[in-house]
Amino acid sequence: MREDDERLRVRLGDRLTEAGCLRTAPWRAAVKAVPRHEFLRGGFFEQVEGASPTAWRPVLPNGDGRWLERCYADESLVTQVAGTVVPGDLRGEIMRTPTSSSTMPSLVVRMLEELQAEDGHRVLEIGTGTGYSTALLCHRLGDGSVVSVEVDREVSGRAATSLSACGYRPNLVVGDGLAGHVDAAPYDRVIATCGVLTVPESWIAQTKPGGIVLATVGGWLYASELARLTVHGDGTASGRFLDGQISFMLARPHLPPPLGLLPDIGSGEERLTALGPDLLTSDWTTRFVAQLAAPRAQHITLSGEGRTHQILIDVQAGAWAVLTEADRGWRVRQGGPIRLWDAVEDHVARWCADGAPGLDRFEITVTPDEGQVIRWLGGRRSRG
Ligand SMILES: C[S@@+](CC[C@H](N)C(=O)[O-])C[C@H]1O[C@@H](n2cnc3c(N)ncnc32)[C@H](O)[C@@H]1O
Repeated sequence: MREDDERLRVRLGDRLTEAGCLRTAPWRAAVKAVPRHEFLRGGFFEQVEGASPTAWRPVLPNGDGRWLERCYADESLVTQVAGTVVPGDLRGEIMRTPTSSSTMPSLVVRMLEELQAEDGHRVLEIGTGTGYSTALLCHRLGDGSVVSVEVDREVSGRAATSLSACGYRPNLVVGDGLAGHVDAAPYDRVIATCGVLTVPESWIAQTKPGGIVLATVGGWLYASELARLTVHGDGTASGRFLDGQISFMLARPHLPPPLGLLPDIGSGEERLTALGPDLLTSDWTTRFVAQLAAPRAQHITLSGEGRTHQILIDVQAGAWAVLTEADRGWRVRQGGPIRLWDAVEDHVARWCADGAPGLDRFEITVTPDEGQVIRWLGGRRSRG
């Protein structure tokens, strides 16, 4: 087993180097040293092919080699579903949402490289998960330089066991990482391995001037991107998106609220619309732009009586928009205090008029006065 896993680790490091995500010697050394399988001893869930809705079945370490090989494949491995269920709890299949995982190694190392951590830096990680990325940080920077916050006590406990089995002893904290961890601040770097709607001001306040915050910023239309912000001496932060269509499970407090009662789609005001609902389901960047215009909107599809309605609902604002196919094009009916589709249409049209720039041309700023603002360069601002 020992020789096998060493060989698999070296091979993983070589593959990530060839793919261009693993770029520097210290991180290469970390990947070749940290045994990912030790963080997956409890098994993982694999997706059941063809199941709809998505179903998961457990893969446990049973000595047939399949589990070990998969631990060193470049894939994300789900380790908890439905907030509590782990692979060892189950024999059959389960159709629930993943709530913790070991992120795919190419993304883990890409983020670590993008973090630009140097010897002596202190790092705050949000989302300990299995502890694999925490172990890589410990290998690179030393146990005393790493603080990792996990919201789920059980998940954090399992990570602590795996980390200690590998000889790593970082400061593991159980709590809501959106608050950071002020007791050990300030940090040189903050890295989040769960997604956020907005970069919390606590992370900026707890980072030294010149330090970096790296996080995936997304929303409930499920388009997201990795942002790297530099913290300034005046308590603000700004940076750019690093194009790569990166997505993470959202931080638990940022998950969408229950939809509640569906709107009365016979009420409201109706008009024709030039833009169809395709923009909510197709291209990633267009969806990201739409999401900026309606940052708390959720998208659902309702069908019945031979018709399909695409609905945007902002539960908090009590606003909604329903798109229905018309003879030629689409009709939109909108209700509530804001016109969600007017905002989406306007924003997407302006972005197109500015040449539809890619996400690598978007800028993000966070200030105490304005909160988070995202805009494409040469274009207009969006509160996010
Ligand atoms: C994709 S996993 C982390 C992967 C991990 N870094 C690894 O290498 O295994 C995301 C983790 O974020 C945790 N999480 C979600 N919301 C959180 C929050 N508000 N604060 C801290 N952790 C959170 C989840 O419980 C989950 O374990």
